[in-house]
Amino acid sequence: MNVLLLGGTAEARELARLLHAEGISAVTSLAGAVADLHPPQGTTRVGGFGGADGLAGYLRGQHVDAVIDATHPFAERMSANAADACARTGVPLLRLSRPSWAVHPDAASWHWADSIDQAREVAGGLGERVFLTIGRQSLAEFAYWGDRFVLTRVIDPPDIASPASWTVLRARGPFRIDDELDLLRRYEIDVLVTKDSGGPTDAKLAAASELEVPVVMLRRPAPPDRVRLVTYVADVMVWVKGLRVGVAGQRRRSR
Ligand SMILES: NC(=O)c1ccc[n+]([C@@H]2O[C@H](COP(=O)([O-])OP(=O)(O)OC[C@H]3O[C@@H](n4cnc5c(N)ncnc54)[C@H](OP(=O)(O)O)[C@@H]3O)[C@@H](O)[C@H]2O)c1
Repeated sequence: MNVLLLGGTAEARELARLLHAEGISAVTSLAGAVADLHPPQGTTRVGGFGGADGLAGYLRGQHVDAVIDATHPFAERMSANAADACARTGVPLLRLSRPSWAVHPDAASWHWADSIDQAREVAGGLGERVFLTIGRQSLAEFAYWGDRFVLTRVIDPPDIASPASWTVLRARGPFRIDDELDLLRRYEIDVLVTKDSGGPTDAKLAAASELEVPVVMLRRPAPPDRVRLVTYVADVMVWVKGLRVGVAGQRRRSR
């Protein structure tokens, strides 16, 4: 059985390990956007497929039996391409999207935004000194905030030249609550702008809550229609093992 695992997340790395342990052949696909310090177990490929057409060609050419889309909840384009390519080729697809922070105990107190424009507008009215943790690629949409203090934290350097009033920290999580408290205090942050990446509770959210710093939370894009969705790695393994039985039976019959 050949599995294509669309990765770039901790969950995808964990799945690569579990699939390998089960003896299931899987290729992890990475966009190659960030330097990966922890390459996943097993075979990897790096770089885009060339849209849904390119991915459909890859699925046929590599005789892929199943696709697991374990990309980040905000990797909207890749997920849409996977849905399109799998629908066209008939390859089963499962989307793994970690639990949203919409169920976080503090969620009702946050300012939820449906778009980056809305997040910027709401945050602009909440305070002058902003802590911006929305990923490197979205920074450009905040760049006209050259008139205020912005602290941003990224893994790889931003693609844009950041305004002089910004401080760019380079760091990779997870972070400790004490360090996040220290950061918010040291830079006198009065609003946190982030996105609903989800998963284990994030230290910056706990720190913001403790210091009563308002949070602007960018809502997740909706997953593609008609794609089966699960939230935990264990559910993916159940699905894959079920498919493996079917694929093995099919191969026996076609011999
Ligand atoms: N967006 C985030 O906040 C975020 C956070 C952490 C990690 N990541 C990871 O970083 C990667 C890029 O995220 P993004 O938001 O830029 O994605 P995106 O906007 O949905 O994808 C843009 C393009 O990048 C290529 N691509 C994305 N993921 C890929 C993968 N796993 N393997 C091969 N090609 C991929 C595809 O190119 P083609 O059309 O040419 O196939 C896709 O059309 C994803 O793998 C995601 O899991 C994203």
